[in-house]
Amino acid sequence: MKTVVVSIGGSVVLSQEADELFLRNLAALFKKISNNYKLFVIVGGGTIARRYIQLGRDLGFDEDTLDLLGIDVTRVNARIITNLLDISNKEIPHTTSDALKLNFPIVVMGGTDPKHSTDLVGAELAEKTHAIRFVNATNVDGIYDKDPNIYKDAKQLKEISIDKLIAHYGTTWGTAGKNIFMDEPALDVIKNAKISTFIVNGKRLDQLEKAIRGQPFDGTTILV
Ligand code: UTP
Repeated sequence: MKTVVVSIGGSVVLSQEADELFLRNLAALFKKISNNYKLFVIVGGGTIARRYIQLGRDLGFDEDTLDLLGIDVTRVNARIITNLLDISNKEIPHTTSDALKLNFPIVVMGGTDPKHSTDLVGAELAEKTHAIRFVNATNVDGIYDKDPNIYKDAKQLKEISIDKLIAHYGTTWGTAGKNIFMDEPALDVIKNAKISTFIVNGKRLDQLEKAIRGQPFDGTTILV
């Protein structure tokens, strides 16, 4: 069975309000897709991670400690998702090597070490498993030519080359809790391992399913 890696943003799992029905539907979708694909699901920390990171920053903690706070939250979110699936690991692995040893139709995990986000964990797993696709499910509809929160005329890009993204964002990790569509070190892995990568709005489950299945979807394809 072919493998697909899905990185799901914490903001998709939990925004201001907990959406029980959405989480059940998300879990049902993963279970349905696991009939056709082996899935690795990496869960992000979202706004809760950023709140703890901000608190730690106000308290003067160093960057690695702030990252560790974020990692803890990603693992809590991963635990929520895995408990909605009865065909996945109960305990959340702390490294990609440990995740690879698990024998479940769906493997769920959060972050691993400081200095990157769960996007890198996903890219690394996609590389190590020779996944056919890496799907980054975020809280916007894709990559835009400019910030859609600021510019009303921002246009969603259907495709963009990995080289253009690297030229624009670089490949160096910024600071804890930074929120861009894909972390910079992950871009490097995607380029070097030539991982077919899709950016999709994880709240739109119909589009998420299409992206995971490799069907035409509303979102952005990163050309590698
Ligand atoms: P996320 O992966 O959630 O990053 O990790 P994000 O960019 O905020 O993504 P969304 O909003 O969930 O989509 C949150 C923070 O946890 C730390 C980093 O500080 C990151 O910004 N983290 C996470 C790590 O240091 N290592 C990891 O492997 C994962």
